[in-house]
Order: sequence, then structure tokens, then C-alpha cells
Amino acid sequence: METRVAIIKDLNKDIEKIQEAAKIIHNGGIVTFPTETVYGLGANALDEEAVKKIFVAKGRPQDNPLIVHVANKDITPLVKEVPEVARKLINKFWPGPLTIILKKKDLIPNITSANLDTIGIRMPNNDVALKLIELSKKPIAAPSANISGRPSPTDIERCIEDLNGRVDYILGGSKSEVGVESTIVDCTVNPPVVLRPGGITLEMLKEIDPEIEIDKAIIGKPKEDLKPKAPGMKYRHYAPKAKIKIIKGNKEKTIEKIQEIVENYIDIKKEVVILTTDELKNKFNKGKVISLGSEKNLEEIARNLFESLRTCDDLGADLILCQSFEEKGVGVAVMNRLNKAAGFDIIEV
Ligand code: TXA
Ligand code: MG
Repeated sequence: METRVAIIKDLNKDIEKIQEAAKIIHNGGIVTFPTETVYGLGANALDEEAVKKIFVAKGRPQDNPLIVHVANKDITPLVKEVPEVARKLINKFWPGPLTIILKKKDLIPNITSANLDTIGIRMPNNDVALKLIELSKKPIAAPSANISGRPSPTDIERCIEDLNGRVDYILGGSKSEVGVESTIVDCTVNPPVVLRPGGITLEMLKEIDPEIEIDKAIIGKPKEDLKPKAPGMKYRHYAPKAKIKIIKGNKEKTIEKIQEIVENYIDIKKEVVILTTDELKNKFNKGKVISLGSEKNLEEIARNLFESLRTCDDLGADLILCQSFEEKGVGVAVMNRLNKAAGFDIIEV
């Protein structure tokens, strides 16, 4: 398939390119586009044949439902009811990195919701994304724009790497500033439950409803027979080609353990990349080192996480050693993605 590529630098000057992409969505094609969390791969959410193309292009399992992206806060055409707490969350956090799960109306085809009677909806905080949705005149179903299982892309180059030749249009814009996918909150239950941690933190959600908690099933290593409420959470995910080990403990012991493992791997001629922070990056004298940012700035760590995992692959890593991060604020999302990318290979020191 021939893929057209365009980068939007100025929304007004480049409006024709967005119009072109919107027309493709309107006519049943698939388009990657920027959002503030990660890049998405979109199709008309109401068109079964179009949505099917997303699953094919990504190699995504059909039992993993898609998030529907909208350009305004009135979602009554798509869902059966909007409970008060959902209304409050929408008013507070949209546009932004928050997906709300609600009971879907029948116009949303089963392929989009993977046969669930609910649907995830969000309004992204990105001008290009909002304009694309508006001009296509359709709600856009979009998973992250990566080949299934790989780290989500946060810029256009990584979309091209994964999807060139597999989609109709690759629309680029600015880098994704959040860097991890949206927080998913199930509002079909009361109190609502967080099914995936993300850019909107538990602390922020509790300001709207103090009863909101994170679903226990997504904390820690999943059991074999786990049926998580967000089906996507059961798959190995966010993973580079290299194996990842997470080292968890105090700083001194973390540095010591990382150095010990690096020595062992270098002895057997393996390429090791250390993922660490600005504060620790100069403590290692063997192995390649990538800093995710300052340990004091978990937003920066989140923003750089997926891109750094992909850089590890570019560097030919056989093994990635990553320190752990404080599980507060967006750090909960960072550790959730890292644990999954590592397949829960965690060494406590
Ligand atoms: O930030 C984001 O949410 C990005 C950007 C592109 O908007 N999208 C994204 O989509 O992360 P995806 O497909 O990679 O992840 C969607 C997650 C999956 O874990 C899926 O199982 C869950 O949302 N999900 C979708 N619909 C659901 C539903 N009705 N009930 C429970 N979980 C749902
Ligand atoms: Mg994804």
C-alpha cells in the first residue's frame, strides 16, 4: 500500500493536509495522527470495514477493544448514559489524557468494542487530532500507532518505522508531551475504577471522587487466568526487542547490582543498555547509558520512556537494565509500563 506522509507545522497553513487525511478517514481509510499521549492509528469508529483495517495493520488481537476519539464533550450520541461522575471527569479533564468507559449505543459496531457492551471514549488535547476528527465528521477509533506489542510511538519517525506501507496516511505534528497512554477510568461502576494508569493521576481523579481506586488486578504480576477489565492489559506490551530487567531498591544497591549484571553480560559479549536518571547516569563505567530525565521530574521520565526503549533497540541491546521509579503521580503509569515491558522480571536489592 502506498502511504502518504505529511507533517503539520502550522495548523492554519497546513490545513489542506489535515483535510486530505480527514477525507481518507471519512471514506474508510486509516491514518496515524499525533495526540498528547502517544500517536494514534485512526479509522471511522462507526465503519466496521475501516476498523478492521486497523487490526490488520497493527497485527492486533481482535479481542482488544479500541478507544473512540471525539472532538467535543457531548458524547450522548455514542453512549447510553453519562453518569454524574463521568460528566464531572469530562468537564475537568477533557481535552486531555483521560479515557472514560461507558455503556455504548448500538451504532458503535462490535468490532470497535471487541464485542463488549461498553466503549472507551476520550477527547485528545492536540490541535491536529481535534481538527482531524472535526473535519472527518466521524468519531475516530484509534489504538496507539505501533505494531502490536512494541513501545507506543511518540513522534512521526516511529510511526513511519512501524507503519509505512501499512496505512493510507501518516500525519505528524509535535512530539507527544505526556509520553504514556491515557488513564482509563471505568465509569460503568460506582465508584469508578482505574483500569490503566496514565497522564491523569489517581491523586487528580480523587479530587473529583475520593472513592476512585486503581483496579487491583492491574497492580503486580497478572495471574495466568486473569481476565482484566481492560482486555489489552493482559498482553505483553510496550516491549522493545531486547530483554528488560528492572532493578528495585535503594540507590547504592541499585548501582552495585546493575554494575554486577553489566560485567557478567559484557563477559559473554552481550550488548547492555542502562536506563537511568540524570542523577545516576555518571555512576556507570561499563555498558551504554541512557538517561530518562531527572528523578525529580516524573513527567519528563514518562515523556522519554517509550522513545528510549526504542533507542535501546537501535543501539542493538540484548539486555536493558532499568532502575525503578517512585510510584506516585505519573510514576504509577511509568512503573506499570516498565513492569509489563519487562514481563515482571524485577530484581529486588
Ligand atoms: O492515550 C491513548 O489512550 C492512546 C491514544 C492514541 O489516544 N490510545 C491507546 O489505545 O492507548 P490502545 O488501543 O493502545 O489501548 C487501549 C486500551 C486497551 O488496553 C483496551 O483493552 C482498553 O483500552 N479498552 C478499550 N475499550 C475498552 C472497554 N470498553 N472496556 C475496557 N477497556 C477498554
Ligand atoms: Mg497500545
